[in-house]
Amino acid sequence: MMSESYSPVAEFYDLAARTQTETARLLTETLADVDTGYGPVLDLGAGTGRAVETIAAALPDARILAVEPATAMRAVLLSRVVSDDDLRRRVTVLADTAQNAPLPDRLSAVVLLGMVGHLDRQERTALWQRLADRLPAGAPVIVEVIPLPAPASMPEMRFARESVGEDDYEGWISGEPAGPDLMRWRTRWTVSRQQRILRTVEYVNDWYTVGVQDLIAETGWSGLALSSNVGVLRR
Ligand SMILES: C[S@@+](CC[C@H](N)C(=O)[O-])C[C@H]1O[C@@H](n2cnc3c(N)ncnc32)[C@H](O)[C@@H]1O
Repeated sequence: MMSESYSPVAEFYDLAARTQTETARLLTETLADVDTGYGPVLDLGAGTGRAVETIAAALPDARILAVEPATAMRAVLLSRVVSDDDLRRRVTVLADTAQNAPLPDRLSAVVLLGMVGHLDRQERTALWQRLADRLPAGAPVIVEVIPLPAPASMPEMRFARESVGEDDYEGWISGEPAGPDLMRWRTRWTVSRQQRILRTVEYVNDWYTVGVQDLIAETGWSGLALSSNVGVLRR
């Protein structure tokens, strides 16, 4: 079954994504030397299309393949793509998972932001093989992970607070270990007006606590941490 885990909170996703400018900067810098003539750039777990916009701006000639399994996330992604003539011409949206998506024979770069921890070790190994078969030597695979080296109890903290119209939106997150290398994150969004909560939406999802160095080791590729949560792997 395709992962719909993000659909319940998709409506709020871009409120939190507003804080992701540092990742966008590192993505832009890392993509600068990509040979877009080789094949499309693959964005796996593209979410609402935040990185798609960054990739398109960094590489004006690139074709982009955006793979996203969750229907509601993909609805925002497709809306973003069709509302911009340039994106509409260059971005193909695929309703599939990293494990099952049919991939073209050649890719010029791969973007995995906030996605790779949703795959277990076996699924990641299979993915690295599929990517290695398609990327030219030295092409970048840009990864963004959660900078938590091992599962740990994380008290609830607010990670987003935005006003829209008359309402205030707040995103809260907490986490508990769910296995030797697995975290279970609980996210809670509230929509309030004049301090009165109108609506609460909660969801839970699991994330393997892999860091950039772990990914370098398990791929056997060369790699570099660009910040505490972003890295580049090159096969
Ligand atoms: C934290 S969000 C990141 C979205 C986007 N990459 C960004 O950085 O804004 C994780 C995304 O990965 C997607 N996802 C979850 N499991 C997946 C899988 N097995 N294959 C591909 N995408 C997956 C989710 O639906 C969600 O949109």
